[in-house]
Amino acid sequence: MTAVNTAGWRPEMGPAQHPDHEDAPRPTNSGDRALMLEEALIFELGRFGSTGVDIDDAEFEPMGALAGFLRKAAPALPGLTEPETVRHYTRLSRQNYAIDLGPFPLGSCTMKHNPRLNEKVARMAGFADIHPLQPVQTVQGGLKVINELAHWLITLTGMHGVAMTPKAGAHGELCGVLCIKAAITARGEDRTVMLVPESAHGTNPATAAFAGFAIENIPATAEGRVDLEALKARLGPDVAGVMITNPNTCGLFERDMKAISDAVHAAGGYVYCDGANFNAIVGKVRPGDLGVDAMHINLHKTFSTPHGGGGPGSGPVVLSKALCPYGPIPFTELFEDGHLTLVDEETGGARQPHSFGRMAAFHGQMGMFTRALTYMLSHGADGLRQVAEDAVLNANYVLRSLDGELDAPFGASGPCMHEALFSDDNLPEGFSTLDIAKGLIDEGFHPMTVYFPLVVHGAMLIEPTETESKAGLDRFISSLRSLARRAKAGDTSLKSAPHFAPRRRLDETQAARKPVLAWRGDSAA
Ligand SMILES: Cc1ncc(COP(=O)(O)O)c(C=O)c1O
Repeated sequence: MTAVNTAGWRPEMGPAQHPDHEDAPRPTNSGDRALMLEEALIFELGRFGSTGVDIDDAEFEPMGALAGFLRKAAPALPGLTEPETVRHYTRLSRQNYAIDLGPFPLGSCTMKHNPRLNEKVARMAGFADIHPLQPVQTVQGGLKVINELAHWLITLTGMHGVAMTPKAGAHGELCGVLCIKAAITARGEDRTVMLVPESAHGTNPATAAFAGFAIENIPATAEGRVDLEALKARLGPDVAGVMITNPNTCGLFERDMKAISDAVHAAGGYVYCDGANFNAIVGKVRPGDLGVDAMHINLHKTFSTPHGGGGPGSGPVVLSKALCPYGPIPFTELFEDGHLTLVDEETGGARQPHSFGRMAAFHGQMGMFTRALTYMLSHGADGLRQVAEDAVLNANYVLRSLDGELDAPFGASGPCMHEALFSDDNLPEGFSTLDIAKGLIDEGFHPMTVYFPLVVHGAMLIEPTETESKAGLDRFISSLRSLARRAKAGDTSLKSAPHFAPRRRLDETQAARKPVLAWRGDSAA
């Protein structure tokens, strides 16, 4: 099959026919392509000193202590009319790819559909307008949501308690590692080393280092799993614990997890599990049964809340009985008469005397809590189990459908979990993972995660998630197959893809070494 894209160009037409080629016919000189509109920076569009809003000249009285900070001159902000402003941002938004436009097969990121029911509930005034400083008796409904969600998280993971305040997965990791640190300090010990497998997500070693631990690698087996014997050999009185992602970043379940936990506990350490991939096992496996002491759950991955481009996320951390006393405040407490309260520094003195402190000013991300609980209640326990089964089924469908087209380094290790991992091993000389990823853009798909995990050369990590239909997966697979075949046929036009995106391929080296991150009037001329 040949790749055909929306602009009607096909590889056999040759590079000269690409709309981007200098000899290709250009309908306009605006840079626009059909109804895909080019957009300049707002600073280039706007006129300094003008504004779209009529404001009467007003006298502002300098206010007390702030007076010394008053501007001496007007800021150089671009002025646009209201329609110009609306168009500017609407045009920019059309250049964004989003989960509501098509699949986002990013491995390790779990970009799945955000059900509209979640959004509807989160927008109910009682939830949307809640304020963290409201008197506790006026937010009983909100606290009930937090408590109910906490109950679901504890039940699904088989753990003892949960810290709801962390704002993202990495923040949750920090919370768990700080609990481990507090527990070790309370024992009067000084364990300084955290063991992290070489396939770990980058946030794991970064978190442990941030908390003051020295990081040591545990090697992977040829199968892509933690080398249990190597781990056991390194355990000792200086080891505070291990951080293990399960399912791991090679898309495989760590079958030795219980044996790992037993060995770590016997050596006096704690087990942190990176639970970012919990969506692959929710309803099937309870990490508490595997001896895990702390695990973060990315609500924005497993429980379908939106990825907010860096926030607002939510990463509650479930804790074992051994670590619960060290968990952060505030947390909700349910009394026998049914009323709820937030346990904080004032009230927590008696109930949580060993808490390491706070992860956040308030109780967490109410908007995410509401959405996640809606997702749980609308699926029920059986539905959540099916989420995991469908996520794994979809990933295996992608993995097996590309047999013989792309190299699957652990394809022989058996079925994968929720992610299908490929390498650039059978691409011909001169073609790389990057070419396949950029080619996908021309095919209308967001690229997969590339060059991660680091243990695999030229890794392509694909997480289709459970929300893609078979028809959607077939389209994606067919595009990938076609790109692999184009590379094998030596189609050099792939080397300069994407051809149909708003921007062409970046010079990766320049972009990394000399990034231009701020607009400066003189450089924009
Ligand atoms: C395995 C794993 N761990 C941790 C994280 C960090 O989570 P967050 O992005 O919510 O901080 C991610 C995010 O991609 C992940 O995939």
